[in-house]
Amino acid sequence: MTSRDKKLWQEMPSLPDFNYVSGEVYTQPEIFKKEQDKIFSKTWHFVCHESELSKLYDYRVYDYTGKSIFSIRGEDGIVRSFFNVCSHRGAKLFSMPSGNAKRIKCFYHHWMYNSKGACTGIPRPSAYSDTEVKKEKMGLREIRTEVYLGMIFINLSDESENLHSYIGNALDDLSETMSMQPLEVFHYNKILIHSNWKAWQETNMDIYHEFMHVVLRKTQVNAMPMEDRKLSIFKNGHGGSGASLKASYTNYKGFANRKDEVGPLPGMSVSDFKFMNIFPSLTIIARGTAIRIDNVIPLTPHTAVIEMRGIGVMGESDEDRRARQKHHNQYWGPFGRNVPEDIIAAESCAESYRGSAGKYQIISRDEDGTGQDDIILRSFYSEWALHLGINPGSLKEIK
Ligand code: FES
Ligand SMILES: [Fe+2]
Repeated sequence: MTSRDKKLWQEMPSLPDFNYVSGEVYTQPEIFKKEQDKIFSKTWHFVCHESELSKLYDYRVYDYTGKSIFSIRGEDGIVRSFFNVCSHRGAKLFSMPSGNAKRIKCFYHHWMYNSKGACTGIPRPSAYSDTEVKKEKMGLREIRTEVYLGMIFINLSDESENLHSYIGNALDDLSETMSMQPLEVFHYNKILIHSNWKAWQETNMDIYHEFMHVVLRKTQVNAMPMEDRKLSIFKNGHGGSGASLKASYTNYKGFANRKDEVGPLPGMSVSDFKFMNIFPSLTIIARGTAIRIDNVIPLTPHTAVIEMRGIGVMGESDEDRRARQKHHNQYWGPFGRNVPEDIIAAESCAESYRGSAGKYQIISRDEDGTGQDDIILRSFYSEWALHLGINPGSLKEIK
């Protein structure tokens, strides 16, 4: 018999821990809740690139773990973040997704705040005399905010390690590319996907699926020997390319002239390709001439928002910018040759697990950290297990 009956289909694979994952990690509301509490409320979360808050008092508002939060560049040039919640009765201070605000006035009863989160004004305060309610004590709830390679992150926990230590060496191979010249965001789009957040994140960690993309079959699969590829994992569950991978654009219509259209980013050649996943839900991909940053925000067990940014060189000529945008959008962007196919894959897997037809997914490819090894996926799920105290395959508690 080559097919499997119900019993065989439901049997746990006889593979080592973290080489397979139960479909229930994508569907169970209790697991989703634990992820929100034990992962997303304790790890560093990418908010935006610093070029998006370039001027004093620029702010951006976003939702994260069900909370509305804003980050603002203060009068001293430092970016800080706060719950988007008035200290008085909880009204949202900002309703627009971004803008510039020297003073922050709550629309409801006009309490005032400054860009450092201090309460600077309470109308008719005498009615609160002899109580705790005085502006000196009514500041906003601040959230830890740190910057790394131009990327602004927040952490809802006051106890977690600092951002530098959290990232460790994971971005060393991208640091020249991301720090030698000032960079800026030239593309932003947001996608609501009908999939668990992990099914999307897996598309950025799973190299084996490159056959799915015709553009990668033509430009990447044969661009270098599989055994010469190097994948690396780092502490805290981060993982990606350990050194530049190669792409060759000559075989793909419309891509062949890439090397003549705009210079590469610092530390790369046009044909270089690097990627790194920062646990749990950030991916940075540099493809010779442009960078893509993906940020996944889980909404429910079955939905997530992906924010996608394209990054290029600040102050470059219009001609260079157009070429960089083209290179970015040919692969990525909402109509690129790559991203829409990944969405189909993530939603397809998630749908199988949602209906309980899918039982286990296998992540056991072993190529000694080269080629299309699943090492990054295994590292991700090992870290996930550490936070949740659950084995992702058996769903048993880890003592
Ligand atoms: S809720 Fe903001 S001033 Fe009253
Ligand atoms: Fe993909």
